[in-house]
Amino acid sequence: MNHYADLKNQLLELRNISSAVALLIWDQEVKMPKGGASQRAKQVASLSGMHHSKSIEMLGTLLPKVEQEEWDQLSDWDHRNLKQLRKDYDKIKKLPNEYIKAVSQASSEAQHVWIEARKKSDFSLYQEKLQQMIDLKIKQTEYMGYEDNPYDVLLDDYEPEMKASAVQKVFEDFKPELLKVLSAIREAPQVDESFIKQEIDEDSQWKFGEEVLSRMGFDFNHGRQDRSVHPFTLTIHPEDVRITTRLDKNDIREMLYSSVHEGGHGIYEQGLPMAHLGMPACEECSLSIHESQSRLWENNVARSLEFWEYYFPQFAKLFPDSLKGKGPEDVFAAVNLVQSSPIRISGDELTYHFHIMLRFELELALINREIKVADLPALWNKKMKDYLGIDVKNDAEGVLQDIHWAHGNIGYFPTYSLGSFYAAQFMQQARKEMPLDEQFRNGEFSPLKSWLNENIHSKGKLWSAEELCEQITGETLNVKHFVNYAKDKYSRIYPSANLT
Ligand code: CO
Repeated sequence: MNHYADLKNQLLELRNISSAVALLIWDQEVKMPKGGASQRAKQVASLSGMHHSKSIEMLGTLLPKVEQEEWDQLSDWDHRNLKQLRKDYDKIKKLPNEYIKAVSQASSEAQHVWIEARKKSDFSLYQEKLQQMIDLKIKQTEYMGYEDNPYDVLLDDYEPEMKASAVQKVFEDFKPELLKVLSAIREAPQVDESFIKQEIDEDSQWKFGEEVLSRMGFDFNHGRQDRSVHPFTLTIHPEDVRITTRLDKNDIREMLYSSVHEGGHGIYEQGLPMAHLGMPACEECSLSIHESQSRLWENNVARSLEFWEYYFPQFAKLFPDSLKGKGPEDVFAAVNLVQSSPIRISGDELTYHFHIMLRFELELALINREIKVADLPALWNKKMKDYLGIDVKNDAEGVLQDIHWAHGNIGYFPTYSLGSFYAAQFMQQARKEMPLDEQFRNGEFSPLKSWLNENIHSKGKLWSAEELCEQITGETLNVKHFVNYAKDKYSRIYPSANLT
């Protein structure tokens, strides 16, 4: 078994390099003075380049030897690790070096132009660069090859094994259900959220957020929380996981739900099997499974009535005057308000998914050359009107709002919605096995955290998302669990709406 042991050791060495890169990037986003930027970019590029070339060289030598000489003596876990490594290696080998350079060049140019275009709210400034990026992504699908849809190639980078047709089917089942729920909610009397928009000093907010994170099971001995404009999670390795949050002193919901969301991502990373560091077994299953963990804590737990039944007394101490005469059910309503917005990241738990469907439909059509980049603003605005009844005022609050496409992240958006759907399905299963409502009311979140550790986090990337979901819940992704969850939750907030 000499080659396999050698392979594992070398992967661990490589992992040390990527951990160092992660720390450089964390520092860049959280602490670094502005003037450090250009040298930092060079440091990151050197180390990443070193990592890339060493991985290719090492896998090219050792992988075939292990596969040919040692396969039969290895375990199931080892086989899955090796299949993943083979898949990653074959993927990299199919893309010529000049192509990889062209994408990275196009991405930094597109990002630059996107910032400018968004500032001026003028899509025409960005059109050419975006078209260039789309053409490059189409080229990727040609290099890689595909059976059904070129989009499958791009989706696979974020959601291994998932097909465009499967995503389409999920959204088709979901769309009419969501429209029904939303129109019933729109006709019901709206909820009051004004009492929650009160000034609370930053220190008190911070302490409250850390208390919630600790109770969820985020391990501050193996992680920390800092401030940033855009909250994110960055893992140095599972024993050192960094999350960030933002603070709005007039609306504690900003801090709380950013902290809990990133905390969910962080708990996933802290739960990966450290014994396999460097191997696929110690990586996340897929982006949608990652997002299922953040959304599960954010929406299914911290936006539940039972969560607020436990936290209301502590919460009320933060702003006793405006919470006078209020109860947990008022906070529950105020944190679950449904309100259409043209901006995706301001979307609530329901309307959010229309933002994703819109982007998915446009991406899919672009990659299949059914539409042109020049058509995007008009198509975007029409879908916004059809789905959410919103008149988009300008490109900045429409087609220019996200940076994903400039970075070449096409096939990424659907993972956000899939994450919510997986979360609902996992929670449905966990609820069968444990009295979650009662536990939440008592402030006990560790049984749920342990369940997630055991069923999801500790499995790393050994299975695809669909395989994992089937093992846990007995079926592959089924959006009906999310629909049932949404009907149940929102019928409590909008009792006069007929949601069934
Ligand atoms: Co997230």
